[in-house]
Amino acid sequence: VISRNFSTSVARAAIKNITVVGGGLMGSGIAQVSAQTGHNVTIVELNQDVLDKTHKSIQQNLQRFAKKAYKEKPQEGENFVSETLSRISTSTKIVDVVQDSDLVLEAIVENLSVKHKLFKSIDDVAPAKTIFASNTSSLSITEIAAVCKRKDKFAGLHFFNPVPVMKLLEVIRTPQTSDETYETLMAWAKTIGKTAITCKDTPGFVVNRLLVPLLAESVRMLERGDASARDIDIAMKLGAGHPMGPIELADYVGHDTTNSIINGWHEKFPENPLFNPLPTLQKLVDEKKLGVKTGEGFYNYK
Ligand code: CAA
Ligand code: NAD
Repeated sequence: VISRNFSTSVARAAIKNITVVGGGLMGSGIAQVSAQTGHNVTIVELNQDVLDKTHKSIQQNLQRFAKKAYKEKPQEGENFVSETLSRISTSTKIVDVVQDSDLVLEAIVENLSVKHKLFKSIDDVAPAKTIFASNTSSLSITEIAAVCKRKDKFAGLHFFNPVPVMKLLEVIRTPQTSDETYETLMAWAKTIGKTAITCKDTPGFVVNRLLVPLLAESVRMLERGDASARDIDIAMKLGAGHPMGPIELADYVGHDTTNSIINGWHEKFPENPLFNPLPTLQKLVDEKKLGVKTGEGFYNYK
């Protein structure tokens, strides 16, 4: 008990100012949840246009939440939204904002060399105390951290879509991540209202290592013509209690994302049949039918 209390106070003291790099689907959710729980957040993006969109989507999400949570007290709801937004600032120049940052959390494009370029650009600039973390879905944290000197202050923080709703945070430690960094991040997870689990730096960590093969197997089932998409989804919802069926979930995650995870793992681990490429997913990606986000995937959302 003593050590847990200590950890929480360490986290509160240690992580107050957060830089979220990437204001897309995941970054905007991470920024929102962090600001809602009292952290000062700076979102860094490539240009102001994207930042404006990110800000607007966070505002809409907060308003939707406040409308329900403060149904009887609309004024308090408005205050909640404006106070949360006042803790969020934006920038296009990461080097300028990391000076005050306790945690730099990256949620940019899933590409090792782009992530390397980012972390390399701030390793010498950020204060020694600053923890770096990646929200990667499928890359190795050790490989991302390889370009940094602060390997003891580098870890994985893997969130789930939609971030404001999904209660899990995977905290990934590499062999170099220090106990202090790990403890601080585990305690920080609590302060943002998430339940943290720990995983070694293995492909897909816990959730994606189990979920991606499930999605892939359900697509293979479709390819074989064993059952229809709708029946596979109904089966897993009513027979296994999943909130979404695997075909629906594949549309929700996005076929570009799942396809690149599978192909990346296949390249690295060609002997594992669970990671074999999926012709159907490749075809959907080529046709830009990426799922919910483009209005069509296995199902039509238009
Ligand atoms: N942002 C904020 N809140 C949202 C939201 C969003 N994008 N989508 C839904 N919500 C909220 C709704 O407002 C609603 O809130 P209240 O309960 O307060 O009313 C609540 O979530 C439930 O939403 P709905 O009633 O609209 O729909 P639902 O009950 O079907 O739930 C769901 C939607 C939470 C997405 C649910 O279907 C679900 O859990 N699906 C599985 C999602 C999943 O597996 N995600 C992980 C994907 S893998 C991943 O992220 C890792 C990776 O690296 C690729
Ligand atoms: P996204 O495409 O919605 O957002 C990425 C954002 O990063 C874009 O807005 C882009 O403009 C910005 N960006 C790219 N390079 C940048 C740079 N150098 N500096 C600042 N901003 C930059 O992607 P996403 O779905 O939010 O995924 C982001 C990361 O989170 C990826 O590593 C992905 O694997 C991981 N992830 C995704 C999911 C998911 O379900 N989508 C779930 C968990 C983890």
